[in-house]
Amino acid sequence: MDDAPNSGRTIYYGAFVHCKSLQELDICESGAIGVGEDGKIAFIERGVSDIGLDGVKQTYDWGNAEEVRVNDEGFFFPGFIDTHIHASQYPNAGIFGKSTLLDWLNTYTFPLEGSLGDLERARLVYDRVVSRTLSNGTTAAAYYATIHVPATNLLADICLSKGQRGFIGRVCMNSLAPDYYRDASVDSVIADTRATMSHIADIDPKHDLVAPIITPRFAPSCTEDCLHALGALHKESGARCQTHISENKPEVALVCELFPKSASYADVYDSAGLLTAKTILAHAVHLSDEEKSLIKYRESKISHCPASNTALTSGCARVRDMLDRGITVGLGTDVSGGFSPSILEMARQAIWVSRHVAMTEGDQAKLSVEEVLYLATRGGAKVVGLEDRIGGFEVGMDWDAQMISLGKVSSDDMNLDTEGPVDVFGWESWDDKVAKWMFNGNDRNVSAVWVKGRLVHRRKSYKG
Ligand code: GUN
Ligand code: FE
Repeated sequence: MDDAPNSGRTIYYGAFVHCKSLQELDICESGAIGVGEDGKIAFIERGVSDIGLDGVKQTYDWGNAEEVRVNDEGFFFPGFIDTHIHASQYPNAGIFGKSTLLDWLNTYTFPLEGSLGDLERARLVYDRVVSRTLSNGTTAAAYYATIHVPATNLLADICLSKGQRGFIGRVCMNSLAPDYYRDASVDSVIADTRATMSHIADIDPKHDLVAPIITPRFAPSCTEDCLHALGALHKESGARCQTHISENKPEVALVCELFPKSASYADVYDSAGLLTAKTILAHAVHLSDEEKSLIKYRESKISHCPASNTALTSGCARVRDMLDRGITVGLGTDVSGGFSPSILEMARQAIWVSRHVAMTEGDQAKLSVEEVLYLATRGGAKVVGLEDRIGGFEVGMDWDAQMISLGKVSSDDMNLDTEGPVDVFGWESWDDKVAKWMFNGNDRNVSAVWVKGRLVHRRKSYKG
């Protein structure tokens, strides 16, 4: 026991909700989660209303811990994991007209990304996107930056200083790109990728918060020798890898044309050594059965990007089928193919897409509230390889969490500006409250966000 006013230990008190399995939520109406100064969960107590917070403090000899209480209708929930987001494209969120992937890249995306060589512009964009995703409860994100090393390094600096977990990808593209925005050679691709790796090793040597991720944009943007060189670097460094796969049909046709020796799109990556258990593949809309088997065999992970796939009319990813095959799936906003930086929004978009699939292929395709919340948290944690540390509330895991506040409707207070758009009447079951949050909630319901126990975002109304 020490008698310091507080020991850097905090007890989070009230309801908490997290995913027990793909199908099942664990809802604890009255809990206490103790988080140590190392940011890890030290204990979890349930049924706390019986012994009260003082009882918990006594049990653990945590008398001088700080307390954080969630309001009566709200709950603590694990931080969301965005498994695919282009930080550099954030200014274009919502701007895509009627384009589809290949013309969208040339019309909207390359000009914006190309402009982020200007460090001041990059700072404005990256500051904002990291703050905005944090305010939406995203505690970890797999980011694509641009080809520019200083700006990519800046994104790593910003994640680290704001306290978000970030996998930071310097985008590699030495082919089929405009002259103003293209890598000069395979050697420069590797040298620039290494430069960002080395910067990140300097600022966060243990990769506690930020880590590099090898990022060939997608097969059409890279020559075969470039993909092979990146595959060799993936093997040598052990860094994760991220890319796009089978997003729309003209893209798949282009890959067949560009890589005639390969059996499939997935095989292009596999033959380059880029299809591994540490690879995140975004979209996966038009994969063949053989490709899905190969991805499962290699244990590569899928980022499902429902908003983007609808916006760019790329298609409907068959998430149920991938889950049934045992493929690991998480959610990605894919800003700015996707219009929203919110993973909660992606959870509902994933539900809608699954219902559109169900309308032609049968009810088994439908994803439930529990399932999409699993993809948003535990699934995402598996996709980024951190399932032992984040995605749920277990003793020994990091406190990466969001405080969800919900307002109760009351006849004496008709102020609509308080706790966000979810109206709780008080007679709902807990399952119903969670469903109402999932379908109607937004960043106004996110009162506070922690990563590894550090408070990284709070709304004005938060009294911690
Ligand atoms: N394929 C190659 N580049 C991109 C990109 O920036 N966004 C999406 N959605 N698909 C891509
Ligand atoms: Fe993308």
